[in-house]
Amino acid sequence: MVITRGAATERFREALLAPVLPGEPGPDFDWPKEYQGVYLERRRECGLALYEAVGLERGDREGSARQARENLRLFGAPHAAIITTDAKLGTYGAVDCGGYIAAFMLAATSLGVASIAQASLASRPQRVRDALGLAADRKVVCGISFGYADPKHPANGFRTDRADPKVAVTLLDR
Ligand SMILES: Cc1cc2nc3c(=O)[nH]c(=O)nc-3n(C[C@H](O)[C@H](O)[C@H](O)COP(=O)(O)O)c2cc1C
Repeated sequence: MVITRGAATERFREALLAPVLPGEPGPDFDWPKEYQGVYLERRRECGLALYEAVGLERGDREGSARQARENLRLFGAPHAAIITTDAKLGTYGAVDCGGYIAAFMLAATSLGVASIAQASLASRPQRVRDALGLAADRKVVCGISFGYADPKHPANGFRTDRADPKVAVTLLDR
């Protein structure tokens, strides 16, 4: 994990916001091919709740592009954490990182620090490596922007539901 603060966060933000270069490589780990069924439903539900909270109409392409760009602005957060894995560990390295990310975010929450995991920061991995001085064999899994939450910001005005364990877990007892 690399964590930025102060001028390093500002430099990182600028690097992320710079225009995409022709031929700039895409993510190190493939994006989901498709969201179907419950995954599609949950994704839609979360997206629509966010749009409603920030006052975006469905179909407002300019507005949704602006909201998507907030990712690259790190939502105005003072810190970014970038999680990378060794190329040789393959997909399993990314799986291990998932556990680390969850633990990091729980620890931050327990200290009153808000955080948001951002797969979107992995969409242009080469600029992330360049900006942070990382070697080519560090594969970018995701980023986490963090800092104290602004409770008055409209984006913080909604909460997603949690799937009932009865839906998420299959219990076998014989
Ligand atoms: C692995 C992972 C990647 C995520 N990537 C993004 C992202 O790129 N941009 C974003 O706005 N939110 C991202 N999210 C955060 C979700 O938008 C967030 O979980 C959602 O707002 C619901 O909040 P909750 O986690 O409290 O349910 C990501 C979450 C996870 C776990």
